[in-house]
Amino acid sequence: MQPFTYDALPGRVVFGPGTARAALADEVSRLGTSRLLLITTPRAEPLARELVAPLGSRLARVFTGVRPHVPAAAAAAARQQAAQSGADGVLSIGGGSATGTAKTVALSTGLPVIAVPTTYAGSEVTPVWGLTEGGRKITGTDLRVLPRVVLYDPELTQSLPAGLTAASGLNALAHCVEAFWAPGRNPVTALAAEEGIRALARALPVAVKDGASLDARSDLLYGAYLAGTVFAAVGSGLHHKICHVLGGRYGLPHAQTHAIVLPYVLAHNAPGAPGAAARIGRALAAGDPALAAVLDGAGPAAAVQALAARLGIPAGLRDIGLREDQIGAAAGLIAPAVPADNPVPAGAEALRTLLRAAWAGAAAGAVGPPRAGTDAAQAAREEAVTAGVLASFAGAASPRYREVMQSLVRYLHAFAREIRLTDAEWQLAIDFLTRAGHLTDDRRQEFILLSDVLGLSMLTVGINAPASAGATESTVTGPFFTGGAPEIPLGGDVAGGAKGRPCHVSGTVRDTAGRPVPGARIDVWESDEDGFYDVQYPDDRTAARGWLRSGPDGGYRFWSVRPAPYPIPADGPAGDLLAAAGRGPMRPAHLHFKVDAPGYRPLVTHIFVAGDPYLDRDAVFGVKDSLIVEFTEQPPGPGPEGRLLERPWNRVRFDIVLAPAADPVA
Ligand code: BEZ
Ligand code: FE
Repeated sequence: MQPFTYDALPGRVVFGPGTARAALADEVSRLGTSRLLLITTPRAEPLARELVAPLGSRLARVFTGVRPHVPAAAAAAARQQAAQSGADGVLSIGGGSATGTAKTVALSTGLPVIAVPTTYAGSEVTPVWGLTEGGRKITGTDLRVLPRVVLYDPELTQSLPAGLTAASGLNALAHCVEAFWAPGRNPVTALAAEEGIRALARALPVAVKDGASLDARSDLLYGAYLAGTVFAAVGSGLHHKICHVLGGRYGLPHAQTHAIVLPYVLAHNAPGAPGAAARIGRALAAGDPALAAVLDGAGPAAAVQALAARLGIPAGLRDIGLREDQIGAAAGLIAPAVPADNPVPAGAEALRTLLRAAWAGAAAGAVGPPRAGTDAAQAAREEAVTAGVLASFAGAASPRYREVMQSLVRYLHAFAREIRLTDAEWQLAIDFLTRAGHLTDDRRQEFILLSDVLGLSMLTVGINAPASAGATESTVTGPFFTGGAPEIPLGGDVAGGAKGRPCHVSGTVRDTAGRPVPGARIDVWESDEDGFYDVQYPDDRTAARGWLRSGPDGGYRFWSVRPAPYPIPADGPAGDLLAAAGRGPMRPAHLHFKVDAPGYRPLVTHIFVAGDPYLDRDAVFGVKDSLIVEFTEQPPGPGPEGRLLERPWNRVRFDIVLAPAADPVA
C-alpha cells in the first residue's frame, strides 16, 4: 500500500426520488435557518417556487438573476439581495451556475448553503468557487462555500435534454477517470471513482434514450455526485488542464470538450498507470456489458470513446470549433500546467500529438495492454507510433475509409505489440505474402484461399448475410466461381463431361412467405469425382458448372455428377499454414449454388453430402448443419428427364428459400 494523505470533506447528502419535495423543509429546520435567500435561474424558477412552497415565511427573498459562468455583476447582485433581506441561509435550486452563484454569496457572508442540483455538474459537493470578470475566470477554494446539505432528487433531472444529459454525464465520467492520477489521488477516492464509472456507464445509454427512466436518472445523479466528491478531493490532472485551456482560451463548450478529450487522455496515461486503466476498464464493462468487447479488443480509452459515440457526442474537437492551426499554441499553453507526477510525461510535443488526434476524432487508444514487463516509457514510445499513424488517416476525405484504416492500424499494432513481433517474424510474413502474390493469377487466387483458411471469408459471409428467419443459410463462395458458364435448360445436364456418378438435383425456390419464386437465376458449380474443378484442368474445358432459371412454379432440376471431397490447393502459403497448424486441406463434398432473383437478397451457398468424413473439419469452416443433405443412392434403370441409367446414380432434393432484399443486413 502506497502512503497517502486524504482531506475528506464534510457535508450531508440526502438522496432519492421525491427528496426535494419531501425533505427540504426538514433540512432547512435541521440547519436552523429561518430566512432563506433562494437562488435560481429564470428557467428553473417555476420548479423552485413549487419546491419552496412548504417553507412558507422561512423564504425571505428569491433571486433569479443567475447567469452562465457566474458574472461578477450577478454575484454582486445576489450578495446585495442576501444583505437586504437579512438572509441567514442560501438555497440554490438549479444547475452549476445557480450553485456557483450561491457559493459566491457564501464566500463573502459565510452563510450556509443548501443545494438542490437539477443537473450533473457535481459542483455542489466541492469547495471550489468561480466567477467571471471582464472575460476572465477567477476561481478559488474555500470551505465556506461547500454546501452544508445537498438534496439529490433524480426526479428533477428527468426533463434534462438528451444532449445535455450525455455531455454532462461524460463530464462526470471524466472526473472519475481523472481521480486515478490527479494530484490528491488516494485509495478511498479511487473506490468512489470506480463506483461512479460503473453507475455512469450503466445509466448514460438508458437515460439518453429514455429521459424519463427514474432508475437511469438515479444512477446518473449518484455517479455525478461521486464524480463531484472525488474531484473535490483529488483536484485537477492532465485532463482538466487540457479542458481548462480549450474552454478558457478557445471558447469550446465545457461538457462536450470533456467528453471528446477524455479517451485521448486515458489512452495517453494508461501505459503509465496500467492498474488504474484496468480498474477503469473493469468498471466501464461492469456498468455497460456492451463495452466489454471494445475493452478487450482496444482498451479502456476505446471503450470510453465507444460510449461517447453511442451517446451522440461529436467525434473530434474540430466538430465543436477548434481550428487545426490552434493545436500548437494550445499544446504550449497546457504543457506548463501538467502535474509533474502525471503517469506518462506530457510535454508540448506529446500534447500536440494528443490534441491532433482529439481534433480529428481519431480512434483513441488502441491498442491493447502492453506485455507485462514493458516499462511505461517503452509502452509510451510504442503508443506514440500508433497515435502518429492513426492521426495520419484522420484527414481522409471518406469517413468510411478513415474508420476502416484507423481500425486496421489499431488492431494490427495491438497484434504486433501483444505478440512482441520479432524482426525475423516480420520478414517471414513479408515473404509469405510475397509468395501468395506471385502465385495469384486469373486461375489461382491465393489471397482468397488465405482468407478462407483464416475463417475471414466465413466471418464476412456471416456479417453480410446474417441469418434471416426461415431463409436458406449462406456459406463461402470460394475461388472457383467463374462468370461465363453455359446456360442449361430446366432438366438439362451441367456435367459437361466431368467424371463422376450421375446425380439428379431438384427443388423449389420460394420466398420466406412460402411463395414460389419463378425465373430465379441459379448458378451451380462443383468438383468432379477426382476432386477437381474445371479451372484446375490443364485445358480450357468447362465442366460441372452452368446456370438455369427456376420454372413458373419456382421449381428447378438438372443433372450433374455426385461431388467428391477434395483438398483446397495446398502447394502455396495457405497450404504451408495448414500444415504448420496440423490441419488438413480437405473440404467435404459439396455442390455450390448462387441464386439471384429481383427483390431478393442474393444467396451464395453450398449443399454438403450427408455422411462425408470431412464435415467436421472443413479447411475453410464453411459447413452449416442446415446445408447437409442426403444424396440418396438409386438403382440402375429409368431416371428423371427421360434418362436411362445403366449404373447406380444419386438423387438430391434441395429447397431454396430467399430472404427479401429489404431485410436489414447486419
Ligand atoms: C470451394 O468450395 O470451392 C472452396 C472454398 C474455399 C477455398 C477453396 C475452395
Ligand atoms: Fe468448392
